[in-house]
Amino acid sequence: MTNRLYVTTPIYYVNDKPHIGHAYCTILADALARYTRLNGGETYFLTGTDEHGQKVQQAAEKRGVTPQAHVDELFSAFKDLWPTLACAPDRFIRTTEPAHQNVVQRALWQLHDQGLIEDRAFEGWYCVPDERFWTEKEIVAGNCPDCGRPVTRLQERNWFFLMSRFQDRLIAAVQSGEMAIVPANRANEVLGFLREPLQDLCISRPKSRLSWGIELPFDRDFVAYVWFDALLNYITALAPDLPPPTADDHALTPHLLASPAYQKWWPHVTHCLGKDILTTHAVYWPTMLLALGLPVPQRLVTTGWWLMDDAKMSKSVGNVVDPLVLRDKYGADVMRYFFLREMAVGQDANFSEEAVIRRNNADLANDLGNLLQRVIGMCVRSFSGKIPAATRAPSHVLADAIAYMQLLQQPQTTREPETVTTREFETVAVTAGQARLNRTLTDTMALTQKLNGVLTSDAPFKTVLTDREAAATTLFHVLDGIVVAARLLAPVIPAASAEILRRLQVRDGTLHPGTQLIEGPPLFPKREFVSGGLPVEELHAQPGAAMATSGRGLQDFRTGEFRAERDPSNLVDIETFARSQLRVGLVLAAEAVPKSKKLLRLSIELGEPQPRQILSGIAETIAPADLVGRQVLVIANLPPRLMMGLESHGMLLVAEDADGKRVALHPARAVPNGVLVK
Ligand code: MSP
Repeated sequence: MTNRLYVTTPIYYVNDKPHIGHAYCTILADALARYTRLNGGETYFLTGTDEHGQKVQQAAEKRGVTPQAHVDELFSAFKDLWPTLACAPDRFIRTTEPAHQNVVQRALWQLHDQGLIEDRAFEGWYCVPDERFWTEKEIVAGNCPDCGRPVTRLQERNWFFLMSRFQDRLIAAVQSGEMAIVPANRANEVLGFLREPLQDLCISRPKSRLSWGIELPFDRDFVAYVWFDALLNYITALAPDLPPPTADDHALTPHLLASPAYQKWWPHVTHCLGKDILTTHAVYWPTMLLALGLPVPQRLVTTGWWLMDDAKMSKSVGNVVDPLVLRDKYGADVMRYFFLREMAVGQDANFSEEAVIRRNNADLANDLGNLLQRVIGMCVRSFSGKIPAATRAPSHVLADAIAYMQLLQQPQTTREPETVTTREFETVAVTAGQARLNRTLTDTMALTQKLNGVLTSDAPFKTVLTDREAAATTLFHVLDGIVVAARLLAPVIPAASAEILRRLQVRDGTLHPGTQLIEGPPLFPKREFVSGGLPVEELHAQPGAAMATSGRGLQDFRTGEFRAERDPSNLVDIETFARSQLRVGLVLAAEAVPKSKKLLRLSIELGEPQPRQILSGIAETIAPADLVGRQVLVIANLPPRLMMGLESHGMLLVAEDADGKRVALHPARAVPNGVLVK
């Protein structure tokens, strides 16, 4: 099979400056492209700006400039950002480009000719900020069900795309995987949406209300709805020489099908997008394509949101983080690693600077950077700074690390399920190919951890005194393992990876024994948390891992990780802790809350006269059947809270696994219902 990837990001609205939610999506797409190239594939990476529509018109009005002047000024805030985050798009598209206008006008005209666009008088509830109509049933107490702001009643003539005609074809495309939607729960969400009859889509805006858009070629009183315009960017990039439409030649499809770029890339498209724009990408876009007689997209990779204190980061809430500030402080590599390691694609993740520091210190500074320093240091001390040769059989621990590193690099294979008896090992090519990059990174960093383990157990710094060849063998293989790790991490930390390969003087992809190694400063300096450390006596009183003060921060000896909870400003005294009543309870019943994706409604026996009703946001990862009849832990003295119209009288305690999925906690053996957890 051809290993090709055409990867796109959403095109960003130029109504404001970029924030890290945008940066994340572009970094994800860039890393997917780099992993494909690492595996010998070819890539085309598209991003750009969405420059029409009401939001942009309003932003321009606010600044007292024309929309054109506004977009011309602001698009470069996006375009110029990407290279500084080591993102290398092949094409940056602007929807105000003539090439794109040609595509949109041709698409409209063709659908009009085909009778798939018709005009209708229409009345509905309109949300100005979201630029969309809602039905009577959809609005919530006079407000937009999406953003919660008031809607207005509007009546107008408009052009409609007969989207409803493609409902069955779309369902079939999702069900068969012809259009793959990952993660799978998002595909189910789309299929759920498609259980209701699909409406036709209003794809025009009267110029009297909105003039900033692409004119309908068959009705000059209207411009195209911004989403109809924006989605087509994904094919504009593949039809570079398309002429403007004329009365005699105004269809899109024949030109597109004849375009070599379209033929080459379209069958391999992956759209990266946030979960808030899933419907537009999974319903509007494929039906538009089907209507034009074109194949649906191959894959939609749907990401979650970066949250700040559990709220979505957005300009309107005022909690955005500027990617430039983050990059200046930590560098592009750390930022990329943090984003891709911390967020399981599809799930939300909380952003905090402390979390960035933790990842930097534990994974990059310690597991990778320090490993490199240690092994080069040993070669300098004992082998005149040269790469030693491996002449001996490796120790058990070393052999295990070598086997792991070979496994990690296996190409993508198709395995037959019946031949799999033990847990399958998924190689980097497999997990990266499936866009599960947090997993790719966990698995790759496991190699650096194994190599650190080899240094500890083979102890070449000691054996070199008695058995030089054994020490040389260990050091060579550890260096070789670092080369593999650097290569596999290159899509995420390109600069550091190149620097590692330079210091190890890798040529033709391999190490050459006898070559002089290059020493240098630590690749990832450790960062300190802002507040001071605990006095030493108190440290010894802490159970568990040995801790030491390091500068003003606190570091776990085993992981190198700085632990925020050991920061004095975060400490809770025992009385305060004891006021939270944690209790064991038995789940009597559990069911999904109608209309909520996240909530389960639990009935929990806590040794009280009546079972308690507790709502918990776990429906996406824990099945009701896995809870009923089991004991769980709850916080029992929280004030009641109203969620989706239901009262919750407590909170279920859960942990998150490595993929960010929630896991309930159960006592190791049965205890009476209602007992306190101390
Ligand atoms: N212009 C449309 C997309 C048109 S694509 C044909 C748009 N633009 S946007 O600028 O508002 O959002 C672009 C992307 O940023 C979306 O995928 C959205 O999910 C993502 N993010 C915006 N805030 C986010 C977070 N806080 N976290 C992660 N991504 C989020 O929608």
